[in-house]
Amino acid sequence: MRRSRASITMRDSLADVKVRRDSLVMPVFVDENLREKKEIQEMRGIYRYDINSYRKHLDHLTANGIRNILLFGIPSHKDSTGSASYSSEGIVQKAIAIARENYSLNVMADLCLCEYTDTGQCGLIRNGAVDNDSTLKVYEKIALSYAQAGVNVIAPSGMMDGQVGVIRNALDTSGFNNTMIMAYSVKYASTLYNPFRYAADSAPREGDRKSYQMDYRRSQEWIDEIELDINEGADIIMVKPGLFYLDIVRSVRERFHKPLAVYSVSGEYVMIRNAIDSGFLPQETLEEYLYSFFRAGADLLITYFADYLTSGNVSLAAFR
Ligand code: PBG
Ligand code: ZN
Repeated sequence: MRRSRASITMRDSLADVKVRRDSLVMPVFVDENLREKKEIQEMRGIYRYDINSYRKHLDHLTANGIRNILLFGIPSHKDSTGSASYSSEGIVQKAIAIARENYSLNVMADLCLCEYTDTGQCGLIRNGAVDNDSTLKVYEKIALSYAQAGVNVIAPSGMMDGQVGVIRNALDTSGFNNTMIMAYSVKYASTLYNPFRYAADSAPREGDRKSYQMDYRRSQEWIDEIELDINEGADIIMVKPGLFYLDIVRSVRERFHKPLAVYSVSGEYVMIRNAIDSGFLPQETLEEYLYSFFRAGADLLITYFADYLTSGNVSLAAFR
């Protein structure tokens, strides 16, 4: 076996897993309350942007070859119905339009209510619980407002049953046949989202998300989730989180042929970033991290490292 490992040139030539810049998706937080960008304390190196600094950030990302962004909005107003989420003047809607008008990017936008409701839940509350079908009505409105602003890909993350179907139907009946849906199909209830909830100011004020996000103690439920989403019209399916769920990524890859995104979430970023910054792990760890997802079968990787990796901070063999 060692003959084929003896030289760098042979090792490079036989490496069959490829990592490309086009396969990376950079999450971007836009905050209606800010006048300049602000670092997120829980996620070193990641910022919330006001509209001006957001433009500069897009200049920077596109100059480094990033092709995909995933937008999240932090509104200045929260209420029980999440009404700021579907305003045509909303922060995400503005950010979508700016990105589409001035850059050649695939503009993806997360669609959920947890940033917009005063409860921090991903849906509306009825009789003390998150209510599925009244929430879908709001998701429809958000989807249309994103499509109107020119979004390329809508990414519903709230884990309400039927969300992909109602969004697909709303888009098609309003003439937005070309707007894609990236479904957060396989989304486990995970503590690895905790840093994000500070970043997006979307933590539930009480309780958790276990009545709608998946239970990681079940090993087969993902099959139903994906079949439903594909039948309802998903163009891209997703597994989230990434690192603790690579077994699922591989299984999905073997069973379904839809484009597959993996979301390496905020907690994964924080673990690795902190270990590298404090010298406990070398930067080369990032290379091993990247390859793990593509070896498992991902087509797209949503990672907070996308900017860092393409900014020349790291000399990654992957991007030589
Ligand atoms: C909103 C949403 C969350 C994430 C993406 N969209 C938070 C959650 O569901 O609790 C998590 C992303 C991350 O941790 O990086 N529903
Ligand atoms: Zn949510």
